[in-house]
Amino acid sequence: MPEVILNNSPISARQDQNILELAREHDIEIPALCYHPALSPAASCKLCAVEVKTPDKPFQIKLACVTKVKPGMEIKTESAAVYEARTTAFNTLIRYAPESEAIRDLARKFSIDLGPTPDECIRCRLCIRVCKEVVGADALGMEKRGSENFVVPKEGNECIGCGTCANICPTGAIKMKDRDNIRYIYIRDEIISQNPLLRCEACGKYFATSKFLNLVQQREREAQHPELKEQHNYCPTCAKLLSDKTKLSP
Ligand code: SF4
Ligand code: FES
Repeated sequence: MPEVILNNSPISARQDQNILELAREHDIEIPALCYHPALSPAASCKLCAVEVKTPDKPFQIKLACVTKVKPGMEIKTESAAVYEARTTAFNTLIRYAPESEAIRDLARKFSIDLGPTPDECIRCRLCIRVCKEVVGADALGMEKRGSENFVVPKEGNECIGCGTCANICPTGAIKMKDRDNIRYIYIRDEIISQNPLLRCEACGKYFATSKFLNLVQQREREAQHPELKEQHNYCPTCAKLLSDKTKLSP
């Protein structure tokens, strides 16, 4: 039975045992995603890096799943060099699978920061600017979470559900969905607003939120729009058809 030192404790290992199994038997956690005891090891994830010293060689980084214990071996599962090797391996894996929560959870467990989960947002702030400068609702802002800024709904925001942010977003990070008579605007899994939709008075289709139509009417009143005679809630298609018809009639 090989006698080894694992994290400063002398222990006995089984013949031909690999370091990963030895550590697990002693409740020492080493991240490992590509290892399965029933299969031959492939050493592909590279997460199981540990530092190993043998009687004839100084400490060096080895993969625990493919390194067999040897008598007199000294093994460190936590050290600056191990942390660095793990960080590199985690960053390689997250490039392959950027949205993998399994990888992110495991990295967090070993205190490795992989940055934010991609949310399609390039932080151009077009959505924030248009909402403030053109719509006037000022419903969106930036918030620092961890090391990154994120577009978020402002607290107590007055989103009117116009969808201008979703339309202007160059990457489609902000989404707008009309389901039944509700318009949802959201980014990632965060709802920015859910507003009831009104039906077009001509065709009956749900087409805009009441808050948005109120704003349009208020702006028209303020501008004393010359064509403003009667307030109607027509969808853009019906509004055009009806206006063309008015122009054609004698
Ligand atoms: S959500 Fe879209 S518009 Fe807003 S900052 Fe991100 S990429 Fe730009
Ligand atoms: S567990 Fe993946 S390389 Fe060791």
